[in-house]
Amino acid sequence: MRQKLIAGNWKMNGLSEEGLRLAEGIVDRRLRDIEHGGEISRACELLLCPPFTLLAQIRPFLGGTGIALGGQDCHPELSGAHTGDISAAMLMDLGCEYVIVGHSERRQDHGESDDLVRAKANAALQAGLTPIVCIGETESQREQGQTQAVLRSQLEGSLPELDGREAMRLVVAYEPVWAIGTGKSADVQDVTDAHSGIRSYLAECFGSDLAQGVRVLYGGSVKPENAAKLLSLDNVDGALVGGASLKLEDFWAIATSCP
Ligand code: PGA
Repeated sequence: MRQKLIAGNWKMNGLSEEGLRLAEGIVDRRLRDIEHGGEISRACELLLCPPFTLLAQIRPFLGGTGIALGGQDCHPELSGAHTGDISAAMLMDLGCEYVIVGHSERRQDHGESDDLVRAKANAALQAGLTPIVCIGETESQREQGQTQAVLRSQLEGSLPELDGREAMRLVVAYEPVWAIGTGKSADVQDVTDAHSGIRSYLAECFGSDLAQGVRVLYGGSVKPENAAKLLSLDNVDGALVGGASLKLEDFWAIATSCP
């Protein structure tokens, strides 16, 4: 069975004081849960993706909690003359286990193509990280009934080169662009259709047994009010949480919504 993954994507938020306070708060909740039998900790894996500037400061808090650390992006090369960029090897060096690649904000703000996202995902795997590959349709693509075609073409273009059991190291995040940061989450039918389409595509690539091991997260206005419903759907293996991950109570409420 796939353990649910609840990932907090802090985006470009968090100066040291507030960032450390948030991380400490999450760690405190997690440790209290472990003391009381670890019911929530067994139901889901927690992942924090703070900005690069906080990774080194947050890492020491996470020891013994089982909470994973991740980056929000990486360069497609592992080192070299790329001023201002951060490599997957550097993230690994800081204790990260995951890295988000192809988030729609990067695709939009930095013109990232599927090819680039694939190169980043390959670099992540090469460095020993698990890439979380983000895909999702825009509002106009959705209105024109193109959602499944867009998701398939993004998967074709951005998934890393994996064979056999390596597929289990992959996480895909379905994040409809129109649902990100808007308060409008996709409804149950949208999410069910998108996730089953993604699972079918993964089965075509890796065979159905291995495809069953890949976690497919939903992201886009996940909040305490809709988390339980979304997380109970077939093929929804967790959530990539933006805005609500910056509020301790909300993030914890989402984590405790895992069935
Ligand atoms: P949101 O962001 O939860 O604020 O909609 C999700 C994301 O962009 O990963």
